[in-house]
Amino acid sequence: MFKMFPKQWTPVLPVAEVKDTPVAVELAGESLVIFRNLEGKFGALLNRCPHRGVPLSMGRVTENGCLECPYHGWNFTTNGACIRVPLNDLKPAQLSKLSVVNFPTKIIAGLIWVFTGTGNPPELEVPESLLQPENRYFVHHEVWNTHWTRCVENALDYLHIPFVHQNSFGRELNDTARTNAIAQINIREITDGMRINSKINTLAHGIEIDWHKPNNVVVKFDLVGVGIPVRGHIFSIPINAQQTRFMQVILANPGIDKTKFDFNQFVAPSFEDRVIVESQVGEVPNTTEECNVGTDEASLRFRRWYHSVVVD
Ligand code: FES
Ligand SMILES: [Fe+2]
Repeated sequence: MFKMFPKQWTPVLPVAEVKDTPVAVELAGESLVIFRNLEGKFGALLNRCPHRGVPLSMGRVTENGCLECPYHGWNFTTNGACIRVPLNDLKPAQLSKLSVVNFPTKIIAGLIWVFTGTGNPPELEVPESLLQPENRYFVHHEVWNTHWTRCVENALDYLHIPFVHQNSFGRELNDTARTNAIAQINIREITDGMRINSKINTLAHGIEIDWHKPNNVVVKFDLVGVGIPVRGHIFSIPINAQQTRFMQVILANPGIDKTKFDFNQFVAPSFEDRVIVESQVGEVPNTTEECNVGTDEASLRFRRWYHSVVVD
């Protein structure tokens, strides 16, 4: 299962979008159903009843905390166990053979995370900036028609800013990029990815960006030195080989009144990225393909990891 993205933890949807009805969601080519039972516990199950293959997302959440199939009413717990088959008198041993495939879940930063594999998952480790009180986050997500690796690479890439974003936050860099200025990119490994410090030699401030495997890029606007009071987390979540859920999780600095803050100033420019990224074809190629220069080092490290670990 999840051949294009196996054995990874990833957010899939904001908690706020799964209320009292089950939600169908495609993740890395597999159909899942996410539901929340009356105790607030979440389940992520294969969206196909093991009885006759009906999508469980067409069912309902029952008073006993289960997801009920709409066809013959079989009841499944958040762990996928079948605990009731109406109008049959089944022994526990018989019921135990009727479970639906389930996937581990966690709730972090107001997001539902799913592990794209079965059995015992590895510990999910996230940066400190995703462990803050939920009310400090602003979440926006949309579907892009591109492979998820193109989105990650775009988020790691500093040198597109003066061109792709010349009508928004890259306006000033556009002038600089037309001089003889040089960009310096310093990269060092961190526990679960890399830290990229990018700066143009004629400017006072650069930016620090972290990549956390597999699909999270953290943009530290709050460290830029110009007082932008947020930290951005970009998740590139594979829907299938042609589509990606582009999710931005923005952490406001303590004391920011979210009701008065314009988060759209961070969301709107991503449309400029989307036009470019959707024009690219397929997944990122391996490092020996396409032409590369020194400032592509972060992309090349990502490509190397992707081709040796994810798709090998
Ligand atoms: S198809 Fe789901 S209970 Fe029969
Ligand atoms: Fe961009």
